[in-house]
Amino acid sequence: MGRQEALKQFGDKITLPSLPDVVMRINSMIDNPNVGLQEMGALVAKDPAITARVLRLANSGYYGLSQQVTNAEQAATVIGARALRNVAMQVSILQRYEHLKNIPDFDLDEVWQHSTLTAQLAQALAESCFRRTGLAPDDFYACGLLHDVGKVVMLEGLVDEYLECVRHARRTGVALHVGEEQVLGYTHVEVGAILAQQWQLPEKVAAAIEFHHGPTAEIVSHPHVGVIAIADQIAYRASSSTFEAALEKLAALANKLLGVTREEFDKVVERARNAQPEAFG
Ligand SMILES: [Fe+2]
Ligand SMILES: [Fe+2]
Repeated sequence: MGRQEALKQFGDKITLPSLPDVVMRINSMIDNPNVGLQEMGALVAKDPAITARVLRLANSGYYGLSQQVTNAEQAATVIGARALRNVAMQVSILQRYEHLKNIPDFDLDEVWQHSTLTAQLAQALAESCFRRTGLAPDDFYACGLLHDVGKVVMLEGLVDEYLECVRHARRTGVALHVGEEQVLGYTHVEVGAILAQQWQLPEKVAAAIEFHHGPTAEIVSHPHVGVIAIADQIAYRASSSTFEAALEKLAALANKLLGVTREEFDKVVERARNAQPEAFG
């Protein structure tokens, strides 16, 4: 069976999650010039889980405020519309897949932690090479957040078949996307890209998700793919013993593909080192 046929069978079997309602409403507000950030904040204020995260972000060191922000309306004016959408998306996805938390052989928290770190790194990298990618750094955050979401969508839709991919990869020592390919004939990158298209995210977001594991030609010729591929690698290696050695290569790659200087790259990595693992309880 070919890749397209395998993917089609997967599509027939499962229903992809719809774009969360709150995210859809924020998106339509972003497109409407008559709607201000305060109004978007008021929408978010109705959801305590999103509000808590929006406040945490607005009060984080990243924005360097001298006074604490205490409500969602104020917080929205600090972080901006796209960041607000990203937080709403993140919270909604976490809630949507919470029921997969205790499945043996699959560490959901690890996937979300890795995705959040990739999102932060991708945004930081994108800020250093904005002109090359032509995509807002905030959109790279969304992209990092979703780059591996295909794994979770596949786990929910296929359960045992997907766990077989996980076990197969572990047994044979291959990367998970290779295990998926060998067992199912397609991988989480394609499922993630289909989801991004369905959610009408920018085309470059879908492409970056689709090619974050290669082929190399896609990574080296498209800066938006390069950002996610490099952020993914930094995040992936951040907890491994080969981190320092990998950094040299990644710094050279970021310079070649994205024009990111060594100094800028080191700042991005510093973030990875200092990133607090988020609690996804
Ligand atoms: Fe991946
Ligand atoms: Fe990843």
